Amino acid sequence: MSTTTKDDFDPIPSTRHRIHVGVGSLRQAEQETDAIAVPVAADGETPAELGSDPAALASAGFTGQRGQSLVQPRADGPVRVAVGIGTGREIDVALVRDLAADFARAVPYHRRLAVEVPSGDVGVSVADFAQAVTEGVLLARWRYFLGRDADRPTLESLLVVASDSDAEQARAGVERGRLVAEACSLGRDLANCPAATLSAVRMAEIAVDVGTASGLEVEVYDKDQLIAMGCGGLLGVNRGSVQPPRMVRLRYQPENPTGRIALIGKGIMYDSGGISLKPSDESHAQMKNDMTGAATVLASMTALRDLGCTAAVTGYLMCTDNMPSGSAMMLGDVLRMRNGTTVEVLNTDAEGRLVMADGLALATEEPVDAIVDIATLTGACLRTFGIEIAGVMGNHAAVVEQLRRAGDTVDEPVWELPLHRSYRSQLDSPIADMTNMGGVNAGSITAALFLEEFVGGLPWAHIDIAGTAQSPEAKGWRNKGATGFGTRLLIEFALRFARPRDGSGAATP
Ligand code: BES
Ligand code: ZN
Ligand code: ZN
Repeated sequence: MSTTTKDDFDPIPSTRHRIHVGVGSLRQAEQETDAIAVPVAADGETPAELGSDPAALASAGFTGQRGQSLVQPRADGPVRVAVGIGTGREIDVALVRDLAADFARAVPYHRRLAVEVPSGDVGVSVADFAQAVTEGVLLARWRYFLGRDADRPTLESLLVVASDSDAEQARAGVERGRLVAEACSLGRDLANCPAATLSAVRMAEIAVDVGTASGLEVEVYDKDQLIAMGCGGLLGVNRGSVQPPRMVRLRYQPENPTGRIALIGKGIMYDSGGISLKPSDESHAQMKNDMTGAATVLASMTALRDLGCTAAVTGYLMCTDNMPSGSAMMLGDVLRMRNGTTVEVLNTDAEGRLVMADGLALATEEPVDAIVDIATLTGACLRTFGIEIAGVMGNHAAVVEQLRRAGDTVDEPVWELPLHRSYRSQLDSPIADMTNMGGVNAGSITAALFLEEFVGGLPWAHIDIAGTAQSPEAKGWRNKGATGFGTRLLIEFALRFARPRDGSGAATP
């Protein structure tokens, strides 16, 4: 389908740009880089390379507090960048990642950066330190910009400085960090890309390209195939659009898999609300990112092979936009979903659950140990948790717990809400199996109870990223705009996946 103007953009520009990441000596950093990070604790000694005089730094407004950075100019050689660690905080991976991001943002025009891995025991292993540094620097310098200075010098290289004895560990960490950061960058590119450029058809084309290149098997289903398959939710939402829908199935299939996971992503390329039109406010203006769930499923899966994931993973991207028009879904319409359930549509803006229902039902049709869906599903989740924490709900405690742990590990935290059955009656319909809308309150929970109807009792958890998908400012690893939240979480979940045993996950009441 052609667009009305000739304006077209590369939807995934960051994938064209290779950043060289490696491990080397301090000497190499002196000779081959433009800026070297020097972490400074507010309550510690001032490092000799910064002149050892805290008063001199303080006169420039730098006291070592978190969030502070100070670039020390040099006549020749790389500048030193003091980065504040703050006080009394133990070093952990999340702090290292965020400090590396602070450093990389403090020198936005320097192209070759260096960060040293401390020798000795700092509470984080060399490999994890190197990985976190790589993620922090690459994610902080990731950028999606379609304007005039789009060709601003970007990051060329990152050198992680390590002693000879640590070099091998550091190299392994740097490589993992690069893979993870590249996946997250892809997720961000997709979620930032305007809907006029990134249609469902284009999204499927990208899934074929990047999926195949990363060793995935990719199948694309068009409208006729979706009709034959009875995917009434995806088709219903698509009815108002001039752009056809796409469902993409991605398969990562290692030999002798240690478990089987299905990932389902909400791929609403643009959510206008449909006939239940959204007001033209700030939240509507970010609805090009309503496909972040699908983006994170695709993005995370591109890293599985190279990270040596031993679980088999099948991904489902449920893609369409949600538009009002003469052919759009009307309030009161009844849709028949893939698993035969009928749904009365009482609000066309509650479209995410409709497309996810088909994806979940499809996932149950193959052998699977756990189903995880991820979606910018409810404004209520944004209200509940704000932008730093995602909601999680499920029918299986062990799956929820594995997601929670993965989120903590990668600093993409998720927090559980109760999937309480007593709210289920809010979805009762007089003319169909259920409606697509609960009451005014507990919106994230009723949305998850809706989804639960499509998982056939299999172990399942749902992640609501409505709040975390977007950030109004750059902070730590998060950038302004689409954050890619969920990509690193899903990677970690898949890498550490342990098949939940029967009965090991007592369902919530
Ligand atoms: N895509 C939105 C949810 C959303 C809102 C994400 C704000 C990010 C920020 C979703 O499709 C939606 O509109 N949900 C409605 C559901 C309601 C009509 C039952 C909502 O949350 O208001
Ligand atoms: Zn909506
Ligand atoms: Zn939506």
